[in-house]
Parts: sequence; C-alpha cells; structure tokens
Amino acid sequence: MARKADEPLVLGIETSCDETGVGIVRGHTLLADAVASSVDEHARFGGVVPEVASRAHLEAMVPTIERALKEAGVAAKDLDGIAVTAGPGLAGALLVGVSAAKAYAYALGKPLYGVNHLASHICVDQLEHGPLPEPTMALLVSGGHSSLLLAPDITSDVRPLGATIDDAAGEAFDKVARVLNLGFPGGPVIDRYAREGDPDAIRFPRGLTGSRDPIYDFSFSGLKTAVARWIEAKRAAGEDVPVADVAASFQEAVVDVLTRKAVRACKDHGVEHLMIGGGVAANSRLRAMAARRCEDAGITLRVPRPKLCTDNGAMVAALGAEMVARGRSASSWDLSADSSLPVTETHVPAEDHDHGHEHGHGHSHTHDHDHVHELSKKNLYES
Ligand code: KG4
Ligand code: ZN
Repeated sequence: MARKADEPLVLGIETSCDETGVGIVRGHTLLADAVASSVDEHARFGGVVPEVASRAHLEAMVPTIERALKEAGVAAKDLDGIAVTAGPGLAGALLVGVSAAKAYAYALGKPLYGVNHLASHICVDQLEHGPLPEPTMALLVSGGHSSLLLAPDITSDVRPLGATIDDAAGEAFDKVARVLNLGFPGGPVIDRYAREGDPDAIRFPRGLTGSRDPIYDFSFSGLKTAVARWIEAKRAAGEDVPVADVAASFQEAVVDVLTRKAVRACKDHGVEHLMIGGGVAANSRLRAMAARRCEDAGITLRVPRPKLCTDNGAMVAALGAEMVARGRSASSWDLSADSSLPVTETHVPAEDHDHGHEHGHGHSHTHDHDHVHELSKKNLYES
C-alpha cells in the first residue's frame, strides 16, 4: 500500500470492435472503467458493421474520456502515460482510438503506448486477482477470437499455441442463437436457456478432438452446421424445437472442447495457472466446467468478472501500466493501427520500426498472422 502513489497512472483507450472503452488504472488498481457500446446499433444486422462502429467511436470518444477522468478523480496532467489498442481489430475502428490517444498524449506531453488487444485481455486479470503468475496460460474466447496463449511475460513474451481455424467461440453462440431466433448477441440468451435444458439431450460434434487433429486449435463451424441441420430436420418434421435442450447441448459441446484443450495445454507445458478472458468467459457453464477440470488437474483458475472479460479500456490501461512499470519503451508518434497485429507483438515500441524485434523473432511482418488472428464476427459479409 505504501508504494501506491509510485505506481504508474495510465489511461487506456480501446476501440478495436464495437465498444468505446476508456479505463484508468494505477498499477494493478482499477480507478475507472467507462464504456460506450454501439452494440444496439448493430443488433438488427446480426453482427458488427465496421462503418457504424467507427462512427460511434468518433462520437463517443471525448465524452467517454471525460467520464473516465471524472470517475477516477484524477487530472489528465497527472497521468504517466496513455495506452491504446494498436491491433488486432477493425481497421477503421482502431484508427479512431489511435488518433485520439496520439492527440491526448501529444497535447499533454505524455508517453504513448500502442498495445496488443489480446495481451490486454490477459493483463486485465491483474486488476482482479493481482500480479499475473509467470508463465500464465490464457484461453481467450470472444465473438472475434478464440486462442490459447502461453504468456511467460505479458509485456514482451506471448506465444500462440492454438486458435480457431474457422468461427470464434462467441460467433458460434451468435449464429446458433440466430437459427433459434433468439436475437443478438446470442451468448447470454443461450446461457440462460441452457440452464433449463439437458446438456446430454443431443450429442453434437466436438471439433478437432480426434487423435490426428491439431491439439490446441479449435473449430466451431461444423458444430454450428450440425446444430442448424438438427433444428431444420425437427422443423421439417413439423415437430417443436426443444430450445433449452438444443442450447444446453450446443453449449456443452463448445465448453467441453475449450476446457479440455486449455487444461491439456497447461499440463503439456507445466503451467499451473489458467486465465480465461473474452466475452464468452461470462458463460456460466464454461466457468463451472473450467473450475472443476482445473481443480482435478491441480491448476489455479483465474477468470475476471464479466465486465472486465468483454472489451473495455481498463484492460488496455492495465497493460500500459505494466509496460511503464517494467520500463518498456513507448511508441513513436507515427504509431499506426494494425488490424492484424500478431499476438507476439505485445506492444509497438518506437525501435521496432526499423530494427528487429527485441526478442529476436525478426521483423514483425514475417510473423504468421493468420494463425492467431480471427475476426470473423467482425466481418459480417463473410457469413
Ligand atoms: O469480448 P466481447 O464483448 O467482444 C468481442 O467479440 O471482442 O465478446 C462478445 C461475445 C459475443 O459473441 C457474445 O455472444 C459472447 O461474447 N458472450 C457469451 C456470453 N456473454 C457474451 N457467450 C456465451 N455465454 C455468455 N454468457
Ligand atoms: Zn476482445
């Protein structure tokens, strides 16, 4: 406690998808978490419309920053730095956040930290459960990403072990909800229906769990199709669709695969701590099954509260504060938004522009982007 005042005071801005998030932290302490969401504007389209999201960020940015400063009770001049999501995400949406962060940082004379969205999703847990153990295994599951990441150092060393090869986990929830006419976003409502249903009623497929399949990758597209076919067959036969049983059985298939692979990754790598983040981490069955399987395997489970799991500015501020605390270098004024920033680039330091990466992975653009980067929900023209 005595050192509190020395800990870095950082404001973080997140605009990678449909939430305009501004958070303020001091070290590991959350001071403000202001979020303006445009989710209602996208609902009638059944997915996020990039242009609508960008416009909403632009309108929400300044008021949300002011709200966060007021909520935290701090003056902008006292900040030690401004952090912003540099990627991955929707290009136009990211650009609004990066431009705002640069403008504030430059005007206030503060260092600017362009950070990685996925690393931020992991780092946010420090605000809830204290310093992250090193290494930590992270399962990130949202409408835009489903990844298994090994994080020996959240500020400089995050390694992708696996990711979805098609739909993200949240995207599968959204698509199944659409088939069941339950509205968007689908996760929360499926979670609710599933409580009344039987998870063993229908045996839906578990993607990529065969002995020859990649161990840590995910696939939810086949599951989604299997659910849609099952529902179609019921309807064609003139029978009622047992919504609760379908929801419970579908959810069980997703959660079974996610937890099985996450625990396996921990065991294989000798990691004793698993964190789960992203919007799908709010799922009650995922939390329960992960808790049970982790306990059986002697793994400590860390899941932040739902508001910190979904996209927010506090997670960006949390990672920014860690960058400051560990003396990582700031970004330059020509920081740009990178819609496919690889997860291995935890932040975008100024030196990175013309020299190799500080960990010797070579130049940033030689990384395998596709493996760790899925934003399929974010492009609704795909589905
Ligand atoms: O992290 P997030 O707010 O935004 C990004 O996609 O980045 O995640 C939203 C996703 C949506 O697909 C939504 O359906 C899903 O998280 N979700 C849930 C639950 N709450 C939100 N999925 C399953 N169960 C939930 N309780
Ligand atoms: Zn996210």
